[in-house]
Amino acid sequence: MRILIIGSGGREHAIGLKISQQNPETILFFAPGNAGTASLGTNLEITDTDIESLLKTAKEKKIELTIVGPETPLVMGIVDSFNQEGLRIVGPSKEAAQLEGSKEWAKNLMKKYKIPTAAYEVFTNYEKSSAYIKKRNTYPIVIKADGLAAGKGVTVAMNETDAIEALKTCFLDKAFSEAGLKVVIEDFLEGEEASIFAFTDGHCILPMTPAQDHKAIFDGDKGPNTGGMGAYSPAPLVTQAMQEKVMKTVFKPLLNAFQKEGLNYKGIVYAGLMINKNDDVSIVEFNARFGDPETQVVLPRLQTNLIDIFNALVDEQLNKITLNWSDDYSVCIVMAADGYPGSYKKGYEITGIDKVSKQNPNSQVIQAGTRLDDNKIVSNGGRVLTIVSTDSTLKKAIDSAYKSIELVHFDKAYYRKDIGAKGLIHKAL
Ligand code: AMP
Ligand code: GLY
Repeated sequence: MRILIIGSGGREHAIGLKISQQNPETILFFAPGNAGTASLGTNLEITDTDIESLLKTAKEKKIELTIVGPETPLVMGIVDSFNQEGLRIVGPSKEAAQLEGSKEWAKNLMKKYKIPTAAYEVFTNYEKSSAYIKKRNTYPIVIKADGLAAGKGVTVAMNETDAIEALKTCFLDKAFSEAGLKVVIEDFLEGEEASIFAFTDGHCILPMTPAQDHKAIFDGDKGPNTGGMGAYSPAPLVTQAMQEKVMKTVFKPLLNAFQKEGLNYKGIVYAGLMINKNDDVSIVEFNARFGDPETQVVLPRLQTNLIDIFNALVDEQLNKITLNWSDDYSVCIVMAADGYPGSYKKGYEITGIDKVSKQNPNSQVIQAGTRLDDNKIVSNGGRVLTIVSTDSTLKKAIDSAYKSIELVHFDKAYYRKDIGAKGLIHKAL
C-alpha cells in the first residue's frame, strides 16, 4: 500500500515507524518529513499547507491513503479537497476541524451538547474584553485567541496586569493576526491534565489509551508552555473508571454532536482533560489530530494494526475494530534547542542517534526538527527529537529513556529531567 503522511514532526515519524513495523511492505511518503522519516520512505519537498501540490502529488504517486499529522491543513480544508477527488484521507472536514480551529465554535458545541468545560465569554474587541476582566476581578483567568496560534494563543493570567497584557497582544498588537481578533475568556480549571485520543468514523468512537504530556519548559511544570517536552502512557491519573466517565460524558456526546450537526468527522479527536481532586473531568481543549509528543508514547503500545484502523475509519467500519494495547509503559523525552520555546538556532550537528537502539533495545529515537545535510543529521527546529523507551514498569521506562538520552548529543541540547515523575506519585509503578 502507498501511504502519504503529511507533517514533519515527531508525531509523523512515530506514525510512519508504527506503520512500517506492522506492515513492512508499505511504501511511505512524507510531506515534508524530517531526517528520521527519510529512513522509512521518501520525503517530498512540499509544505504541509500547500494543499494544491499535496493533492497533485498524491495523484501522481498513486497514494492510496493519506494521513494528516498537523492541524493547519485540516483547518484549511485538505480533507474536503482530497475527498472531492475521490482520494482516501484520515481527518475531519474543514467544517468539523473547527473543533480545533475555533475555540468559540468548540466551546459552543460543548455547551450545546453538555460536554463539561469551563464557563466562558467571547469578545471581539479590546474595550469590552478589558472592561469584563476588570469587572469580574477573579484570578487566575484564562484568555484564549479564538483561532490557531501555534500553541501560543493561551494565557493563564494570575492578575489583572497579565490579563490586560494578553488582550492587548491579541487585539492591539494583533500578534496572532486574524486568529486573535476574537478572544474566549474562560474560568480557570483546577486539577491535573491528561490526554486521551480517539478514532472516529462518525458512527463509532474508539478511545485510545491515556497519556500525560509535560507542557511547561522547566522541571516541576514551571516556565512558559511549549508544544510538549515529554510524555508517558498509560497515565495512572486516568483510571479505568475515569476512562469510562470520559466515554460517557465526553466522547459519546461528541459523537452525537457530529451526527446531529451533520459534521463529516473521520479522523482523530484529541481530548485535553482536566481532572480535579473530586474526580470531576472537564475539557480544556479538543484538537482534531494526534498530539505531539503523546503519539510517541501511545503508538508503541498499540497492538492492533494501524493501517487496518485507518482503513476501517475511512470506510466507516470502525465498529469492526477492537483496539489492543500492550501492558508496558512508554516514556518519551523531548530534546530541544537552546532557547526554545523562544527563539533558537538551527543547524547543530546531532550525533549518537544510531547508538541508541543498539545499546538499549528498549529505546528508539523519534526525530522531529531534523534534516539531512550531506550525510549529517542537523537540527532544524525547536523540538529536535524525542527518545522513547518502553518497559514493564513506568520507573524502568523512565530510567531507560534517561540512560539512552545520554548517548545523543548536539550543542546546548536541553531536556527536562522529571518526565514521568508525576506518574510515579499516583502509585508504585
Ligand atoms: P489549550 O491550547 O486550550 O490547551 O491551552 C493550553 C494550556 O493552557 C492547557 O494545556 C492548560 O495547561 C492551560 N489551560 C487552558 N485552559 C485552561 C483552563 N480553563 N484552566 C486552566 N488551565 C487552562
Ligand atoms: N502535546 C500537545 C498537543 O499536541 O497539542
